[in-house]
Amino acid sequence: MTTRQRQLFVTTALPYANGHFHIGHIMEYIQADIWVRYQRMQGHAVNFVGADDTHGAPIMIAAEKAGKTPEQFVADIAAGRPQYLNGFHISHDNWHSTHSSENTELAKQIYRDLQATGLIETRTIEQFFDPEKAMFLPDRYIKGECPKCHAQDQYGDNCEVCGSVYAPTDLINPFSALSGAKPVLKNSEHFFFKLSDPRCVEFLQNWTQDGKLQPEVANKVKEWFTVRTNPDGSQSEGLGDWDISRDAPYFGIEIPDAPGKYFYVWLDAPVGYLASLKNLLDKRGQSYADYMANPEVEQYHFIGKDIVTFHTLFWPAMLHFSGRKTPNSVFVHGFLTVNNGEKMSKSRGTGLDPLKYLKLGMNPEWLRYYLAAKLSSRNEDIDFNADDFMARVNSDLIGKYVNVASRAAGFLTKRFDGQVAQQLSADGQALVDKLHAARDTLAALYEERDYGKAMKEIMLLTDAVNSYTDVVKPWDLAKHADKVAELHDACSVLVNCFAILTRYLAPVLPQLAAQVGPFVGQDMTRWDAAAPVQRIQPYQHLMQRVTPEQLDALFEVAAAAEKEPKQAAKPASTAGGASKTVAPTADPNAPGGEALAPTIGIEDFAKIDLRIAKILACEAVEGSTKLLRLTLDMGEKNAEGQATTRNVFSGIASMYQPEQLVGKLTVLVANLAPRKMKFGISEGMVLAASHADEKTHPGIYVLEPFPGAQPGMRIH
Ligand code: MSP
Ligand code: ZN
Repeated sequence: MTTRQRQLFVTTALPYANGHFHIGHIMEYIQADIWVRYQRMQGHAVNFVGADDTHGAPIMIAAEKAGKTPEQFVADIAAGRPQYLNGFHISHDNWHSTHSSENTELAKQIYRDLQATGLIETRTIEQFFDPEKAMFLPDRYIKGECPKCHAQDQYGDNCEVCGSVYAPTDLINPFSALSGAKPVLKNSEHFFFKLSDPRCVEFLQNWTQDGKLQPEVANKVKEWFTVRTNPDGSQSEGLGDWDISRDAPYFGIEIPDAPGKYFYVWLDAPVGYLASLKNLLDKRGQSYADYMANPEVEQYHFIGKDIVTFHTLFWPAMLHFSGRKTPNSVFVHGFLTVNNGEKMSKSRGTGLDPLKYLKLGMNPEWLRYYLAAKLSSRNEDIDFNADDFMARVNSDLIGKYVNVASRAAGFLTKRFDGQVAQQLSADGQALVDKLHAARDTLAALYEERDYGKAMKEIMLLTDAVNSYTDVVKPWDLAKHADKVAELHDACSVLVNCFAILTRYLAPVLPQLAAQVGPFVGQDMTRWDAAAPVQRIQPYQHLMQRVTPEQLDALFEVAAAAEKEPKQAAKPASTAGGASKTVAPTADPNAPGGEALAPTIGIEDFAKIDLRIAKILACEAVEGSTKLLRLTLDMGEKNAEGQATTRNVFSGIASMYQPEQLVGKLTVLVANLAPRKMKFGISEGMVLAASHADEKTHPGIYVLEPFPGAQPGMRIH
């Protein structure tokens, strides 16, 4: 099938640069990546780009809290992106940032072009202003008493207790969530994009209802032309104008000829799609202007259901009225929930930490397959269910698909030197033909992003291949010297089927396909049928099963983290006296002066054996001003059954007189390797707390358990 080469410009939504990826982001990238890989296999030219969405008040405030400049803050987030993207085999051609020269220039140019059409106007609005921080407050940063139910500490736009929606000015005793100051009302000039202009309304009604959008999305969008919900919860007719400016201080792009005014983050965010593309083309020495002027180029945005307004109203209007090409479509997906959990928090995500998944050595292509099996072209929520995940992956990928190869490969290698029969039996050829015949159906399903149906079709074909195997029974044929030809035929049919199935799965399982390619001697990056397999290389195991232990480990962390929100500060090490083994990274804004250590699994914690120990004796150490020598009883006995004690040096002499400690219980790291010190051997470490910066915050405090704890008890 030779078709014209399409020119595709494909994007994923630009994630806010205020946190690491959660599993919802990864789902979107996998959905888009499957589509992109399928298109590339068809020989189409794809530019697949992403970028960080870096601007706006929340990021500015988060940076300030972290004690960083916003630039540094977003750069640190950007540095963390590749491990996720590479880890899940996401094949963006470029990852850029909205905080870039390309984006600044493009956003300003689009704005100027919009201005020239008369669709930008300024209006003075009254807004809450924080006199201490000297800034206008976004609704989320104003708190106060709910005007309806009088719950305290509610946000400026809605009450989390009674659910009512109101304007910040309705709050009783409002205060700034940033400084605690009482906000004052202040006038400010804002810039508006006149979406209510009849030109815009007409254009958008047509653009959203001409069949390019998913039907359920188009239907939802239709409602916005008749009713609109105001910030105070009331409803108005039709499209409202869009406030596109914010006052300094703001981390964003300054509006041309308007000092102190910045583009609202959602104005420059989608421009980031173009900025990332331009950055990519510039790097390749290609012309961005030429590319965008090419009427052949098709533009598609993969997004979640929560940002449809921006992508089906504001963004097409911005592009169209600034004289630019509008998207060919916007592909909207639903939200991912985990283990039937409540909708994930956008900022916190859920228990399924994608990085944890990778670090546990779980195969990223399991997740790709599982999500593909669940995804459809519709804007529907899907759930990641751990049991379902394990069953699906193990039964489909291992039990059905990988099984096809493992059943045939050994015989071919051992008995036929890897040579594959070229003339197949009629039945065998019929099976191979049946698999080939599904190619166009599967292509259409991928094209429509109906991956769930595609996976189902592929598994039905795989079932057919396994049924064939069960009928011809290669393992029986192998026992009969006179059945050599039949054995060769059966195994040859199977590897040919395996190669075809692999090609069909390649958009979803790119790494696996890349392994199978050399095994069957085919290029797996093309969708079209390949020539029959000539010869195979010795089979190497392709994929492991998911184990319950892996899933336990994956979710255990989350369960533990939920029970114990991050308040447990890292106990300072006092082993071996004053010198700390790990220098803490001082961070004046973090609790205790140091940032939290990276997340560990419960299995990591379990490696540390913490025991209750009684301080039997304590004495100063001659020649050291910092150390005390402790004699500890933690209930241990030697081989003869006699009670033994431990000798531990601790750098706490500045805080405690030896006699203060005698008789007290404390906590000992009991399985720390003994350490030889100038004054003797230290057999463990006593837990004590201290501030990261001991110069500004002197003091070190030994831990003591609540009454009732006994020497030898383990801390779990
Ligand atoms: N920065 C904006 C998008 C700007 S696009 C010009 C934003 N960022 S986000 O980080 O909150 O979300 C990025 C994408 O992840 C969005 O498409 C969003 O719908 C998607 N998801 C966020 N949570 C999700 C799930 N739980 N499930 C699936 N996708 C989810 O919005
Ligand atoms: Zn309320």
